[in-house]
Amino acid sequence: MKRVARFLIVLLASGALLAWLAATVVTHVSRHWFEEDIVERSGRVGDSARAALLARWAPGQGEALTALLANIVRDERIMGAMACAEDGRALARTPLLPPQVGCAAVAKRRTEARAQAGPPPSSSVWGAVWDLPGGNAYVAMVPLPAAQPGPRPGFLVLVNDLSFIERREAKTHRFLLVAFGLLAFLASVITIVAARLSWRGFRKELLRFIQGESRRKEFLPIIRDVRELVERIAAEREIDGQGGAWSPQRLKQTLVRHFPGEKVIVLANREPYIHQRAKDGGMEIVHPASGLVAAVEPVLRACSGVWVAHGSGSADREAVDAHDRVRVPPGDACYSLRRLWLSAEEEKGYYYGLANEGLWPLCHLAHMRPIFRNGDFAAYKAVNLKFAEAVCKEADADDPVVLVQDYHFALAPRLIRKRLPRATIISFWHIPWPNSERLGICPWRAELLEGLLGSSIVGFQTQLYCNNFLDSVDRYLEARIDREQSAVVQRGQPSLVRPYPISIAWPVEWPNQTAAVEECRRSVLAELGLAEDALLAVGVDRIDYTKGIEERFLAVERLLERFPAYVGRLTFVQLGAPSRSLLEHYRQLDQAIERTANRINARFARARWKPIHLSRTHHEPPTIYRFYRAADLCYVSSLHDGMNLVAKEFVAARDDERGVLVLSQFTGAARELAESLVVNPYDLEEASSALDTALRMPPDEQRDRMRAMRAFLAEFNVYRWAGAMLVDAARLRRKANALGRSSDDLGRIARLDR
Ligand code: G6P
Repeated sequence: MKRVARFLIVLLASGALLAWLAATVVTHVSRHWFEEDIVERSGRVGDSARAALLARWAPGQGEALTALLANIVRDERIMGAMACAEDGRALARTPLLPPQVGCAAVAKRRTEARAQAGPPPSSSVWGAVWDLPGGNAYVAMVPLPAAQPGPRPGFLVLVNDLSFIERREAKTHRFLLVAFGLLAFLASVITIVAARLSWRGFRKELLRFIQGESRRKEFLPIIRDVRELVERIAAEREIDGQGGAWSPQRLKQTLVRHFPGEKVIVLANREPYIHQRAKDGGMEIVHPASGLVAAVEPVLRACSGVWVAHGSGSADREAVDAHDRVRVPPGDACYSLRRLWLSAEEEKGYYYGLANEGLWPLCHLAHMRPIFRNGDFAAYKAVNLKFAEAVCKEADADDPVVLVQDYHFALAPRLIRKRLPRATIISFWHIPWPNSERLGICPWRAELLEGLLGSSIVGFQTQLYCNNFLDSVDRYLEARIDREQSAVVQRGQPSLVRPYPISIAWPVEWPNQTAAVEECRRSVLAELGLAEDALLAVGVDRIDYTKGIEERFLAVERLLERFPAYVGRLTFVQLGAPSRSLLEHYRQLDQAIERTANRINARFARARWKPIHLSRTHHEPPTIYRFYRAADLCYVSSLHDGMNLVAKEFVAARDDERGVLVLSQFTGAARELAESLVVNPYDLEEASSALDTALRMPPDEQRDRMRAMRAFLAEFNVYRWAGAMLVDAARLRRKANALGRSSDDLGRIARLDR
């Protein structure tokens, strides 16, 4: 109702404004016309009375002349008339003529007007509006040419009443105001009624569509989405039998209910716990800097089972049992870590070579040229086989649930499927999937696609990557694609291709192991030698060219250039974990980052302050969370990133609902964390403006944004991510079982699957 009233007020106000504008224009134009009319009529009066006037022009004829003038002023609009000799003497005037109007005065005004406007023909009528005590009047001066050649005898003055024009103008004003008011009112009523009717029609049509009665094409995409959403929620409920937020318990129950007695095996290159030989000769446990590990570890903790990974730590061999297994997490063991050992040659070809010099740059748009070597692919194949066999050995029945992680193991799903045809294999590609044209760069694109299609489900971070994958299959493989169901059938094996945006555990464990926010802030500022009111920004990454760390420093530099008030006040702390350092590109990047930080520091540093603190070493999660909690803002500037869990971790760390997230638009996280300040990291003007906005953001706005993002993460946590994949896999398996395992009729499976 309030909205309708507001709408009406706006419309009526605009109506009034329009009426005023129209009245002003009309007055101006009509006044001009009236004046022209008076001048013309005065000319005609002069012409018709000329002979009679000239006949009485002689001296001593004053009375006759006055009687003649009295005749002329009978016209209701002429107030008075005057006969003037050419030298300015009045020969006769009617009694009601205002005394201010005299022959000399009229002649003077006319001379002045002629001087300004240029001489009109001396024979033409001249006139002007005079402001007289009784109101405005129009005074016209009509020249009287001589009857015979000779000097002009004089002129006639006619004073016209203007009050009737003013009365008409007032009437016009009133009329226009009422007419426009009425129009505005009618327009608003018609608009409201039309909007209501069409909204009602739209809703009706939508409802009919949902109920399957209408056939209108424009609703098809909406309906498909709505139906899919409703069916997915219903299926999750029906299969999962539960509701509410996803938690470790709910995930475990879902697993037990649909995959009773079946073991969960995670296959990932990176292990969740690394045993390292410490400097003092002892052994220490390190949590690797890996979004994959941060996300998947809580899932395996909830589900139990085994994690198969490369044993890369210097003390890893000492920590395992005779079967190369170690129970983790340390002190709270609930699953096994099975370590595989790789020779330096294997690691070089499989991990550094194909995975990180080939596939990583192939999948990320970060201007790094992928390198493909035959030897690397041979090592990749051999290592995938080695890991696939290890996975199969870990299975204690023929139908385990295998969660294959990331681009290190594109071939493993098909190899596992060969050995365990009844297994539920869920592969998740944590990084972007390139478009089909770009994938064409890779000489082994078909092998990679075939390998992944050994999975029951191939999961990606976004729908775009699913589409890219389906396009790639379409272009490079002989396979049946069902785009409606987002699935592929190859060699009789159906694989669903679906987006499952990854997330973090909620609640996340680390803030509980860290001091209160005020304490974190106090200790971090003291550690950096900063004043209590210093502004603190933080960046946390592996040192990788996809993370845009140099662009981040350049944005800080631009901020200091544009807003010098931050010089001496803002400190940017970059925690950079060394990564893949055996590769030349990564070593060069590490040096380039240091050079850029040094250059900016040299440019702006003051006595005991520098803008960028770069810490290039491994940091354990409690340290990282201490910085998250101390900071005023966190800037994630990835040039391309499947998801980026640093963004989500920063939000999880801020249980005080303060701090601002500035987030690259090229991360998967930017699609979900809509309350962050989303920027293009290449655009230093935009990025530095966002940093400034973040640093000036009022606490209330920070709280509102943080609260919304935290509510999102509480709902869309990593247990839901894993649960959704398990629920989809369970449905697929149920339907496949119902049809018989050999069936390759995806159409039938997919129909039942819905
Ligand atoms: C990315 C990849 C992960 C990888 C992590 C760390 O997040 O998607 O698979 O574990 O980087 O890289 P690293 O090579 O050290 O395992």
